[in-house]
Amino acid sequence: MKYHIVTYGCQMNLHESEKIAGILKEAGYDGPAPLEEADIIVFNTCCIRENAENHAFGNIGALKKLKREKKGLIIAVGGCMVQEEGKAKYLKEKFPFIDILFGTHDLPRFKSLIEEKRARKKTVVSVSEERGETEDHIRPVRTSYPNAWVNIMYGCNNFCSYCIVPYVRGRERSRSATAILREVETLVAEGYREITLLGQNVNSYRDGDVDFAKLLDAVACIEGKFRVRFMTSHPKDFSAELVAVMKKHKKICKHLHLPVQAGNDRILALMNRRYTREKYLGELALLRREIPDCEVTTDLIVAFPTETEAEFEDTLSLVEAADFSSAFTFIYSPRTGTKAAAMEGRIPDDVAKDRITRLIALVNRKTREKSARYVGKTVEILCEDFDEKKGMYLGRDEYGRMGYFKSEKDMIGQFVDLKIKEANGISLYGEIV
Ligand code: SAH
Ligand code: SF4
Ligand code: F3S
Repeated sequence: MKYHIVTYGCQMNLHESEKIAGILKEAGYDGPAPLEEADIIVFNTCCIRENAENHAFGNIGALKKLKREKKGLIIAVGGCMVQEEGKAKYLKEKFPFIDILFGTHDLPRFKSLIEEKRARKKTVVSVSEERGETEDHIRPVRTSYPNAWVNIMYGCNNFCSYCIVPYVRGRERSRSATAILREVETLVAEGYREITLLGQNVNSYRDGDVDFAKLLDAVACIEGKFRVRFMTSHPKDFSAELVAVMKKHKKICKHLHLPVQAGNDRILALMNRRYTREKYLGELALLRREIPDCEVTTDLIVAFPTETEAEFEDTLSLVEAADFSSAFTFIYSPRTGTKAAAMEGRIPDDVAKDRITRLIALVNRKTREKSARYVGKTVEILCEDFDEKKGMYLGRDEYGRMGYFKSEKDMIGQFVDLKIKEANGISLYGEIV
């Protein structure tokens, strides 16, 4: 028996899909297979923006035929979208051929849901309230070598006014530091070369008196040749201690993903972000004073309700001032149940599109300018994959830039020094030194 998992959304979800694979193995499935050959198909969904949901709707709908033709095929849909208020009921009605619907807090019970489905015909629905669980006992089937994701915390308490995550992922809960350190030690011993610590808001990690800076310090003290990344950080919890730990360890990548969302204080307040433009730029200044070559990436939202042209231009000027190496850019998408969804002053689509086009053009220009500075330099990259189309190996440097190179030998999982010959957007092209 084989499984096929389709994942939407963030790195948290990608890692959750590795856990789903682990549960499927325990439930008797041998391994992954293409969609048409699978005995169980699992959708791990996202609801951060409307288009993430529409994407999933389309692909789930397309399974109707396969389900009719293939006797015994199980279709399971889980993740953030299923956890949304009223969504499981909606999905059940819209797609009656779904066999199992499970929410974000039902992962620990997924195996028993499969068993329940095998025993009866009806759709099995399980959308639980959060119970403070941390999924420690689930053994993931990892697919991301040489990188390994390690959850350090779950949930979010921030309630940014536009965001659905606190509603679908529950309250913040941290894993025990001992369990995290043991997991990282095992991964490093198994040969993983990059550890990414994951949480919606890693800076609010806490286990007794171990805060995030202490945890990161302890992870970086583990012996072995590997790198440490972490995401995501919230500017309101940014600390000098964190910068000090990043400075102290060579193992910690000099890259900070620090979502700013907007450059205008009135909009930031409406978003409930709890920092100002000045505070944010002050944090970057501190970071770069201590670690001059640290790269910063960010997330940006345009067309938040009531955002004026001048306020949008504050986002543009912030991008100029902050010197980001790249950014994810989004058009605000109203999410039912969030505070912002009830706000007046929705920005018309054509204005939103115009703003995002201008923002993307600026972000791309900044990315190109920054990348160009790398030409002629030597950077260490960790080789992750082989690009069939380009006929080149690829990997990232510690700053998060993609480096491409040719090699006769299989280099996946190796650290390689590349002399950069050419830069194109966020991608660098080089030769092994
Ligand atoms: N916990 C992380 C990531 C949250 S989701 C953090 O706080 O940074 C990733 C990004 O999606 C956010 O940073 C934000 O830029 C964007 N996002 C979240 N909700 C959104 C919405 N309703 N519309 C548009 N973009 C949104
Ligand atoms: Fe959403 Fe804000 Fe929490 Fe990030 S910090 S997950 S944007 S509520
Ligand atoms: Fe991630 Fe999407 Fe859920 S961004 S936390 S999968 S809503």
